[in-house]
Amino acid sequence: MSKAVLGIDFGTSTTLVSYRKPGQRPAIIPIGKGEVNTWIPSVVGITDDGKMLIGDEVFAENLPETQLIRSVKTNLFNGDTYKEVTLPNGNTVGVPIEYIVKALIGKAIERAKENEPDLQLDEVLLGCPANWKGPERKRLAEIATEVGVSVQVDSIIDEPIAAGVSWLQSLIESGQELPDGRTLVFDYGGGTLDIAVLEVQRPTAEQEPEITVLAANAQHGAGDKLDSLIAKEIEGQINKSKMERPEELEPLARRVANDLKHELTSKSSSTVAHKGLPSSVSLTREKLNELFEPQLNKAINLAFNTIKASLLSVQNAPTARSIRGMTNEELSTGKTTTRFTTKGIDYVVLAGGMSRIPAVRERLERWFEGKIQSDAALKYLEEPVAKGLVSTDLASGLNVHRPGFDFYVEYEKKDEPLRREVLYEAFTPLYFSSDVHTLAFGHGHRVDLNAPTKRSGWTATITCWTPAGEQIQMVDRDNERVQVQVPLKALGGNVFKIYANGNILIRGKKQEKIRIHRWPQLYGGKAVVLKVERKGWKKWDDPDIFWVG
Ligand SMILES: Nc1ncnc2c1ncn2[C@@H]1O[C@H](COP(=O)(O)OP(=O)(O)OP(=O)(O)O)[C@@H](O)[C@H]1O
Ligand SMILES: [Mg+2]
Repeated sequence: MSKAVLGIDFGTSTTLVSYRKPGQRPAIIPIGKGEVNTWIPSVVGITDDGKMLIGDEVFAENLPETQLIRSVKTNLFNGDTYKEVTLPNGNTVGVPIEYIVKALIGKAIERAKENEPDLQLDEVLLGCPANWKGPERKRLAEIATEVGVSVQVDSIIDEPIAAGVSWLQSLIESGQELPDGRTLVFDYGGGTLDIAVLEVQRPTAEQEPEITVLAANAQHGAGDKLDSLIAKEIEGQINKSKMERPEELEPLARRVANDLKHELTSKSSSTVAHKGLPSSVSLTREKLNELFEPQLNKAINLAFNTIKASLLSVQNAPTARSIRGMTNEELSTGKTTTRFTTKGIDYVVLAGGMSRIPAVRERLERWFEGKIQSDAALKYLEEPVAKGLVSTDLASGLNVHRPGFDFYVEYEKKDEPLRREVLYEAFTPLYFSSDVHTLAFGHGHRVDLNAPTKRSGWTATITCWTPAGEQIQMVDRDNERVQVQVPLKALGGNVFKIYANGNILIRGKKQEKIRIHRWPQLYGGKAVVLKVERKGWKKWDDPDIFWVG
């Protein structure tokens, strides 16, 4: 690896920078000026005269909570265009989301340069929650590009995958073998809970281990949501009529809620005072756990649903029906019946600030006793994502759980303009986590082709393109180029279906199943080919075709 790479973990609450020089180990560059100097808080503030302060600057200047903008990553995901702030003079300013994200990423890079004067910015790598689709990824990459650095949307890696890679990287650095088996990554941040199931396999003892992401998913409702619940709970303890600026009640309650949440990690009860509040407020760990319970239940459900999805992503998987019926116990340890065997989870890797809450670990211990790990080389649970982003030796060889590229069908006919139709857009989930509970699970992503109405003379070819617009070749086992054409059927009924385990069904006058064994993680414009296994064309005569394995 000859290029230096810089990683930016733009989080809902914290932003971190990592760096890897050629020939050296990945490392975190501290960028904060607060008590903990590892990160900057992902917050900006607008001063009375309309100037933007970025990250820890807002606290250095003691800007009131009402003038702060937090959690802008959530707005980016929601597709919001701006956020409003009301200044003490009564003026309201609308700040574009793009502008805030750009400011935070720009500040992170500026601070990194201060600490690493010969910082090379050949390539910047970003992460994002596992449930972000193509448009959000593109928007983030475009904003980062505007800061003046080179970012490829193709290389944006799912955050829980990066966190898992960081753990593996640290094992290698400390001279340990990569552990064979399955790892559940549980990255509980400010905006999202991100889960991934990774598998390390060693085809033979001499070969490099292969890391495959079997499933990844995310859900909104993490640290910020818990802060809001606590804030609602404690608002009753605050006498609004005694406040100098009653309009500050809500943002101050949230701020204090966040402080209480942090303190209750190590204490059984806590009391916090804040400038602007007429009295201090208190909360017990017991009350916190009670407020947190429904959210924690949802978090554990997402973990088990992601494990269920991981079981579907292999060839010869059990049916969706049998997976759906599996208990948490069976999902964590693996299950063997006369009809199928599933592998259990061997390790659980914790990441993200919310994973510090004792109840999180306790609940996971219930199912994964003795299996809980975190990246021992890192000081803070906030760091693994950033470190994983620049652990490129591992991350660039990853197989991921769904294509990070588009599938098209191209219709061609002599003397006619080429027509293209999108069949699958990069990063579209191949199932919905809610499907785990329904019979739809396993059906994959289906598109009915919108083929030319007069078929004669038209050919229909399936092609594959990276988000950056490079064509990806499909090759067979002997590395011969493969062209997949659809023999178009006259009256509709031409179908493309893609499944979680790499199977693709193409149906026209005849049908063919092809299998793509690995979806490679695209990295820095690296050329990739897709290895395709063809099952051959069969006349199509089964209208109820449905297979999962
Ligand atoms: N000791 C603690 N106890 C409870 N919560 C904590 C503690 N420390 C940090 N947190 C919470 O962790 C969250 C921030 O974690 P982290 O920095 O990993 O998230 P992020 O990466 O910014 O967000 P995301 O990954 O969701 O975009 C915040 O909600 C913060 O309040
Ligand atoms: Mg995070």
